[in-house]
Parts: sequence; structure tokens; C-alpha cells
Amino acid sequence: MLRPLFLYLSRNDLARRFVMGFPLARRASLRFVAGETLDDAMAAVRAFQARGIHATMDHLGENVYNEADARRAADEYVELLERIHQEGGWNGHIPHCSVKLTQLGLDIGPGLAEENLERVVAKAQEIGTFVRIDMESSDYTDATLEIYRRLRSRYDNLGVVIQAYLYRSERDVRQLIEEGIANIRLCKGAYKEPPTIAFPKKADVNTNYVNLMELMLSREALEKGAYLAVATHDEKMIAATRAWEAAHQVPRDRFEFQMLHGIRRDLQEGLAAEGYTVRIYIPYGTEWYPYFMRRLAERPANVWFIVSNLFRR
Ligand code: FDA
Repeated sequence: MLRPLFLYLSRNDLARRFVMGFPLARRASLRFVAGETLDDAMAAVRAFQARGIHATMDHLGENVYNEADARRAADEYVELLERIHQEGGWNGHIPHCSVKLTQLGLDIGPGLAEENLERVVAKAQEIGTFVRIDMESSDYTDATLEIYRRLRSRYDNLGVVIQAYLYRSERDVRQLIEEGIANIRLCKGAYKEPPTIAFPKKADVNTNYVNLMELMLSREALEKGAYLAVATHDEKMIAATRAWEAAHQVPRDRFEFQMLHGIRRDLQEGLAAEGYTVRIYIPYGTEWYPYFMRRLAERPANVWFIVSNLFRR
């Protein structure tokens, strides 16, 4: 019941202004967000690095509706990459970036988003790192995959996300494998989608997740260069991946586990200690509201957890 409510609120401007006006809400968002500044984010990245865990950094923001804001968002990513480069000391594990195309202007036009993304990807290539395009709601799936395909023909430091809740995802994964450009982060999917296009039952999403993981880590896919980021905190999905890895001798440099900042730190550390590559998605910035609402939607019990913690301090 609460999931649709939080997903509705995540897109509601009045609710956004109301919630963001509360200092307590900002404090609560820190459970999932590294902070409002780049310095906060860099400190979080270094703390993970000290524990052998890697990072992908997300400068929060989505759905900008004017060109200047979209170009500014791309500039900020370029500045982030320059800062990463200048600081150095990454021991071969330079942080990656995750970007949303609506932040780079997709609602204004795909050409603008592509141009902005290219600036970010070119800068990432220059400093030797990688950019992943987050997947947003199904309104954007086709445009996102088109832009990915076009840029991927010129840059190989670029990957995309596939959502297991969409019926179309198996076809998309098969096509990307066939085209030899399947660098995919596989997640369950975080937006509100109708049953005409997405599995309404969690059990079906999980079954599809395992199917897509097996497809991506099949011998045929690996021979075509597939690389998989298994992005989940679900122990069943992680166990299924490990069972497939063992049964099919999948090399560990062909996949990694990814989790979100602030969720299942025990799992993150356990997998890293076993020698798996683990990468944490580290969001930062002032535009934390929709991201925070989607995290509450995933686990409404978070609301009570957060409220009780706020009042305990
Ligand atoms: P599930 O929701 O079944 O949760 C399994 C367990 O994980 C829960 O029982 C709980 O213990 C823990 N958990 C999960 N979410 C939690 C939360 N919010 N708070 C506390 N505990 C929680 N989605 C998308 O549509 N596009 C994208 O680009 C991305 N990108 C992305 C990157 C990375 C690195 C991750 C890990 C996830 C995403 N997602 C995403 C989000 C994804 O689609 C999904 O909504 C969440 O990962 C939650 O699903 P789980 O796979 O964790 O399973």
C-alpha cells in the first residue's frame, strides 16, 4: 500500500517543497545520501575505499526543464571527474559516475542529453574511468537505450542499466549481448509502472532477475564481452549469482556486486572480504528528495526506523 504512495510523492512538487523544508527530513535523508557537497561525497568514497570497496558517484538531480540547468549538470559532472583526477591516490580503482539522462536534458530533447552525456563520458575516458547511465521510468527506456547505443559506438567506458521488472528486459538484454555492448547493471526497478509493461508480483520480478543474470553470465554472453553489475541487496539474488558463478566457472573479473549507500553494509563488507568486487552507489547533492522517496518506497519500514532514530538523538 505504501509503495505507490511514496512513488507518487517522489514526483509531487508540493510534497517535495513541504518535505525539503524540514531540517529533520534533510537529516533523515543522510541515511541514504552521503551529504550535500562534493567534499561529503569524496569523504564517503575514501571511507569505502579504505575497506576495499569501490564507488560510483551520483550527483543527485533529475528532470530538468531548461537547457542551462542541463548544461550546468553536465559541467558539474565534469568538475567531479576533474576533482577525482586531481586528488589521485586511487590505487587503480578510480571512482565511476552514474548519471540520469533527465538531469542532462532528456525532457528537453534527446540531442541535448546526448551532447551533455558525451562531454561527461569523454572526460571520464580522459581520466581513465567509467560512466553508467541510470535507468529511469519506462517513459525513457527507448530513448536511453538509443543514446547508449550511439555513444557506445564511440566510447567503451560506458554502461547502462536494465530493470528486471519490465517484460521487455529479456529482449533488450539479448539484443545488447548480440551487439557486443552488454555492459549492464541489473536491478529490480524502482519506479511506478503499470502491469501492462511490468511484472506486478515481486516473485515474478525475482524470477526474471535470476533469468537475466544467468543470461548475462552465460558462456555465449561472456564470449561476446558481456559484463554484469549485480545491483541488489536481496540475499537470494546474490546467492543465485554465486551458485551460477560456481557451477559455470564464471571469472570474477566479468561481474561485480553493487549496492546503495546506507543499505546492507554487512553484505557489502562480507562480499568484499570474500574477494568479490563490490561497488557502492554514492549519491550526494541538494536534490535528494525523489531519491530519498524511492528508498522509502522500497522499504516503507524505513520511515519508522528513521523517525525513531531521529527522536532518539
Ligand atoms: P528488495 O527490494 O527485494 O530488497 C531486498 C532486501 O534489501 C530487503 O529485504 C532489505 O533488507 C534490503 N533493502 C532493499 N531496499 C532497501 C531500502 N530502501 N532500505 C533499506 N533496506 C533495503 N533502480 C532503477 O530503476 N534504476 C536504476 O538505475 C537503479 N540503479 C541502482 C543502482 C544500484 C547500485 C542499486 C543497488 C540499485 C539501483 N536501483 C535502480 C534500485 C533497484 O531497482 C531497487 O529498487 C533496489 O535495489 C531495491 O531492490 P533490491 O534488489 O535490493 O531487492
